[in-house]
Amino acid sequence: MKTILITGCSSGFGLEIARHFLERDWNVIATMRTPRADLLPPSPRLRVLPLDVTDAGSIAQLMADAGPIDVLVNNAGIGALGALEGIGIATVREVFETNVFGTIAMTQAVLPQFRLRRAGVVINVTSSVTLKPLPLLSVYTGSKAAVNAFTESLALELAAFDVRAHLVLPGRAPSTSFGANAKERLQMHEAYAELTENVFAGWAQSTEAVTQAGDVAEAVWRAATEPDAPMRLAAGADAVALAK
Ligand SMILES: NC(=O)c1ccc[n+]([C@@H]2O[C@H](COP(=O)([O-])OP(=O)(O)OC[C@H]3O[C@@H](n4cnc5c(N)ncnc54)[C@H](OP(=O)(O)O)[C@@H]3O)[C@@H](O)[C@H]2O)c1
Repeated sequence: MKTILITGCSSGFGLEIARHFLERDWNVIATMRTPRADLLPPSPRLRVLPLDVTDAGSIAQLMADAGPIDVLVNNAGIGALGALEGIGIATVREVFETNVFGTIAMTQAVLPQFRLRRAGVVINVTSSVTLKPLPLLSVYTGSKAAVNAFTESLALELAAFDVRAHLVLPGRAPSTSFGANAKERLQMHEAYAELTENVFAGWAQSTEAVTQAGDVAEAVWRAATEPDAPMRLAAGADAVALAK
């Protein structure tokens, strides 16, 4: 029976990915900054373990507790919304610490066992904003584009060891906590107030297709289980349309 370890399972895509694999008889290690046993259906195949991807000690403890794993999903991520002039460099660092350095550190933590076993899959969740740029998301988009480039280069060096790396690019998913969390990091700059209002009004009125958490879980499933899955998997009708 295979084991998947997923980061950021307290809500949204991570929680749904954990559910999806549990329902398909995988062992699931659902990691959360603040572990909660009540979010997922009880199962002897489920372990909920603590992980903050920005904390090297937390990663080392997790790897010591987790045992062998077959698939790593780097899903934990945060957004930052607003015009660049209004975003402090501390927020920029926070976004890159989680989205980029957290992903790289977790990947480094699993690679020795994948390489020695000559098997394993790394799946990094980025975003369709890297396919079509949107205003007010420059820092977030930069972080996700960095993970795209990182993963595509890494896949080439891992192929010699039969280890795979893939990208899942979800579209806009208003149903998760992501938007509200990103808005908490919204730093308004007066000069961009009108632009910001217009962009928000556009999103609020949009009737375009959006992404559901289930779309992301399905794309992660394909990356994990199909040996010839494409390098990039768009997830959600909006992301699929952009990727064409
Ligand atoms: N929703 C969208 O529109 C959208 C679109 C494209 C891509 N994405 C990407 O999809 C991924 C999941 O987002 P989501 O929509 O499911 O948002 P979400 O509901 O806010 O989930 C994000 C998860 O990341 C966790 N997290 C944040 N910082 C962390 C850290 N330092 N260490 C460990 N976990 C941490 C959060 O945990 P806490 O509860 O502890 O904060 C939460 O479980 C993210 O990488 C995001 O960038 C989202």
